[in-house]
Parts: sequence; structure tokens; C-alpha cells
Amino acid sequence: MTRILHISDTHFGTEVPAVVEALVKQEATLKPDIVILSGDVTQRARKSEFAAAKAFFTRIGAPVHLAVPGNHDLPLYDVLTRSINPYRFYGKFFGARQQVWQDGRMAVVCLDATHPLRHTRGETKLESARDLLESARRAIGPNGLLCVAEHQPLDVKMPDDIPEILMNPGATAKLFSHYRVDIVFSGHVHFPLIRDTHKLFRLPRHFIISGAGTAVSRRTRSNAPNSFNLVDIKDGGVTIALHVYQPGGDFTIAQQAVFSREDSGWRGA
Ligand SMILES: [Fe+2]
Ligand SMILES: [Fe+2]
Repeated sequence: MTRILHISDTHFGTEVPAVVEALVKQEATLKPDIVILSGDVTQRARKSEFAAAKAFFTRIGAPVHLAVPGNHDLPLYDVLTRSINPYRFYGKFFGARQQVWQDGRMAVVCLDATHPLRHTRGETKLESARDLLESARRAIGPNGLLCVAEHQPLDVKMPDDIPEILMNPGATAKLFSHYRVDIVFSGHVHFPLIRDTHKLFRLPRHFIISGAGTAVSRRTRSNAPNSFNLVDIKDGGVTIALHVYQPGGDFTIAQQAVFSREDSGWRGA
């Protein structure tokens, strides 16, 4: 079994210390193989916020930590840095904004959908995404599990959030389907969404979307407390359990979705 802890939108600088402690404790109990942070690592891309995020990761026991930048990981008010070197602290603390991690049987393609000239909206950089997906698929073979992490989502639960969807969702989904992507990890709207793509896009092969809420920030939405998604991949099936923070306590399972693979790709039960 492979276990992935999917967290998002930590917005360090606005983190709630008690929730951070609960998450660290839960991670030690759940023992994931991989932790994926799908962007908005910080609130304002300050050095101190990235340092706090890095310190959080040093407390995480999982052997693999992966992250992608979100729109909050570029400075907003520091116009000079935004125009000259917007990703300098992201790069210093978290390295490459786009990369492939793989272990021969599964791969995670980390994509950067942000742009210094846009405030919140994200767009898949299709050309570089294609190159990364190609090399990941080649490395793990046709049957390996291929995941993507990208901050802005392909779909949202709340109608008000539709403007927050990636600018090129159809082309992105088509590209992911072409490379037989299995799971896409995203965040941004602070509202979890776990689903397959069957009723969302016309694709030759469908995949799973794991949209995570904000893990530890006080920037929660109404009806969406702090949360994370726990992904278990076992015997050819995928189970995603949404864990929600209970004030003064721990994260507990609020929803569980089971997916199986068929000729047309992944389908939720
Ligand atoms: Fe966010
Ligand atoms: Fe965001």
C-alpha cells in the first residue's frame, strides 16, 4: 500500500498553532509515505513564513515531501520583488517550482500554475507540463501510478468559486488524460472536493481529483473547517478520506470516497 497525505493552503503567517500541532501529531500516527502540499505554502511569500513552513516539514516523518507554489507564494505588495524575482524565497526554501519525483513504480509531477502578472488565476503551462508528464510516464512505465500536483483546481464545489478554476481546464484535463494520469492534487479555494472526472470532461481516460481545504490556516470558509485528504492506494484501488479538524481535538474522518479502475479510467463508487 502507498499512503499519501495531501495538505494544501497552509498559508504560513496565518497558521493556527493548535491545528499545526494536531496535524503533526496525526501525521506521526498515519505514517504516510509521501506528503504533498498543493500550494499557498505562505500567506505573503515572506522569508519568515517560508522558514516556518520549512520548520513544519522538518517535523514531518514521511520520507518524501513535495510542494508546488500557489498564488500566495509570490509577494503581492512588494511590487519590486514581484517584478524582478518573485519566486526567490519559494526557490530558496522549496527548490524547483516544477519537477518530477518518481520511484520507478509511481511518479508525482509538480506543476506551477502561477504567474507574476496574475493575482489569483492559474494556468497550466502546457508545453512544460507535457515534457514532465512524458518523462514521468517513461520512468514508471504504462502501469505505474502517475499523480499531478497543481495549485489551482480543475473543478470546484461552490458556484462562487468557478472563477478560481484553472484558465485552461479542458486542455489541461486532455493532456493529463493522454498521459494516463491517475490522481490530481489541488487546493486554492479552501473547500475540499473529491471526485472523478466522468461528468466533468469528455476524456478517453478519466482520473481522480483530490481537492484539499486549508490544512492549518485561520483563512477557512464557512462549512469548510481545516482539513486534509488521506489517500490510500492498495490492490489497484484508491480510497480518499477527508479528515476535518475538530476544535480543541484532532482531525477526524468526515467523508470517504472509493475509486476503482476500469477501461475508461478511474470511477468513484
Ligand atoms: Fe489559499
Ligand atoms: Fe491560492
